[in-house]
Amino acid sequence: MRKFFVALTVCVGIAVPAVSAYSVGIVDESLVGDRIVCFVPEGFDATVTPELILQRKFEPTGARPDSWSLNPVYEVTDRGVRTVVDIPAGTSLYGGGEVTGPLLRNGQTIRIWNTDTGMYLVDGGRRLYQSHPWVMGVRPDGSAFGVLFDTFHKAEMLTADDRIEFVAEGTPCKTYVIDRESPQAVLKGLGELTGTMEMPPLWALGYHQCRFSYVPQSRAEEVAETFRARKIPCDVIWFDINYMDGFRIFTVSDTEMPDVRGMNRKLHEQGFRTVYMIDPGVKVDDNYFVYSSGKKAGIFVSDPYGNEFHGKVWPGDCAFPDFTRPETRSWWGGLYKDFMNFGIDGIWNDMNEPSVFDGPGGTMPENCIHLGGGNLPAGRHSMWHNAYGRLMVEASRDGIMAVNPDKRPFLLSRSNILGGQRYAAMWTGDNAASADHMKLSVPMSLTLGLSGQPFNGPDIGGFVGNTDGDLFGNWLGFGAFFPFSRGHASCDTNDKEPWAFGKDVERESRMALERRYRLIPYIYTAFRRAHTDGQPVMAPVFMADPADVSLRAEEQAFLLGTDLLVIPAFAENPALPSGIWENLSLVKGDTMGKYQAGLKIRGGSIVPAGRVIENMTENPFEPLTLIVCPDNDGNAAGMMYWDEGDGWSFRDGNYCELAFRARRDGKYMVVTVERTGGDFPLDLGRINVEVLQNGKVRRGSGSMDAPLRIRM
Ligand code: GLC
Repeated sequence: MRKFFVALTVCVGIAVPAVSAYSVGIVDESLVGDRIVCFVPEGFDATVTPELILQRKFEPTGARPDSWSLNPVYEVTDRGVRTVVDIPAGTSLYGGGEVTGPLLRNGQTIRIWNTDTGMYLVDGGRRLYQSHPWVMGVRPDGSAFGVLFDTFHKAEMLTADDRIEFVAEGTPCKTYVIDRESPQAVLKGLGELTGTMEMPPLWALGYHQCRFSYVPQSRAEEVAETFRARKIPCDVIWFDINYMDGFRIFTVSDTEMPDVRGMNRKLHEQGFRTVYMIDPGVKVDDNYFVYSSGKKAGIFVSDPYGNEFHGKVWPGDCAFPDFTRPETRSWWGGLYKDFMNFGIDGIWNDMNEPSVFDGPGGTMPENCIHLGGGNLPAGRHSMWHNAYGRLMVEASRDGIMAVNPDKRPFLLSRSNILGGQRYAAMWTGDNAASADHMKLSVPMSLTLGLSGQPFNGPDIGGFVGNTDGDLFGNWLGFGAFFPFSRGHASCDTNDKEPWAFGKDVERESRMALERRYRLIPYIYTAFRRAHTDGQPVMAPVFMADPADVSLRAEEQAFLLGTDLLVIPAFAENPALPSGIWENLSLVKGDTMGKYQAGLKIRGGSIVPAGRVIENMTENPFEPLTLIVCPDNDGNAAGMMYWDEGDGWSFRDGNYCELAFRARRDGKYMVVTVERTGGDFPLDLGRINVEVLQNGKVRRGSGSMDAPLRIRM
């Protein structure tokens, strides 16, 4: 054990006395799932590195196949425990979670140390708010593999052309390697290991409008009313820190929000939901119930001398809950009870890297103490840092669930770790209002989708700095198709609501959002696949044809689900998959709109679309339209998942799964709709069909009871 103690005390990237490198053996290498091998190194110690990333413990199911080619080699070096997996020539690498830079990750280094990094400027953008020690490789033939380093310790990850290298603090960690026939199958395997996102409430798939901050309450009401008056679709109004009383979490300012309950009620009546921010820092103030109850329970992080650690965040001096302790997590969860009862629908956990304005490196000192409990060991902050946000969102989610057990929680978090998609959605933090960051938002979201986190998106329009109409229009033109689609703006910027830039941008914004809302049946189905199979909602173009190496670096255009291509207006010469892809128009004039992304539908697919609605309280199926794009043989297929949009009854079969099929029969296209699962009573009435072929649209309609015949 002594030699691992040496490894435990070194710091990645920080000069320490050299220890001679020595290799570490593997004590177990067993299959733990379908073509998933778990490598357990000598010195692995679950009491130091508990498996927070995985959804459960995996027992061996068989021996590692003899032909297995991806085998990690471990050694202890003076930089930490180094794990190297050699990879075959020609492999394209992806993943690493929340990263800046290109989608194709060959030749990149990232630091795994959650960091509050305004405009992604810290450390040249090599570390951001979340940690995903995961890489996916796609071989030239389209087969794929994934490597998961199962640790939350500080680390550095290199994705070179010939190897994946991971250097981490702590005792040697387990490495899980998935080797399957396709990227889709590898991502399914990642979901098997880490769990997948839960079904979100339907309203969370709508457009979200945020700002730092909509106060006073009358301003939030005005924004909401303007959306409705101007008929711009929107489901959610967000409340940033200024709603609080002096930035005290779980409080509401009497002056800014004179009637928070009444306002939430009114917003609900207008078809809006509300999301409120909760940060981890608790203002040090003995007359404040959150601080005094936390202090009494002794649940705050302490310095090495046992004193409560204090550091500055928005409210000034703050104490920080020690989320490694079960007592803290249940105390924290309990705070949501009265708070949610203000009529709040969703929660936004921010600053949870944790960000400490006056702390070393912008966080708490590494020698602060977390006490642990349950299966989590006590340890210094240096060890627990990357897990802080993840443990916080678990506690938040549990607390929200306890108040509203019959509703699906919506929680957004800035910090997290691989596997944390089980608890929260995410956004990509404080980007800049610039064309560069607009373009970067595509590979960032794609990479997250390839790293287990499908429910993500950027601050559309850009957070820091003023935004002009061109930038906003361009960004929302494709931003309407991010899985999480939210406009946000910092406190000192110009207004960034869709109408703030004049009539043209307003019209284009409405159009972009109407396109999203028409696609809600299709997008919800994609979310269902994310939940059941770990598939990204927004996926790289290469996933349409993993063996086509010319698509591997494409990071302007992207896939929405499996059957739609989105080509942002800014895209120059995007690499697109071969085969039939027909242009798709969803609302009048959208193919001519200056900022609208190009949309294309895959030959052989059927996409279910609804009508334009302004929010999710309306019925999108008046009517349902099946958009059919036949393949060369005149066939097409698709499916749709639908349920109550909230609650858990879908788990007991209260959902509806429909299979759509189309085939050419002489002069007709014959389309059938078949219920393939669930017993949710979906009354579809009249169904419209649009067949897209060779640039022409043929229309027909009928009901799902008999085959629909469309004259071609
Ligand atoms: C952080 C968040 C940002 C938020 C601000 C104020 O910078 O990343 O989204 O608006 O804090 O709460």
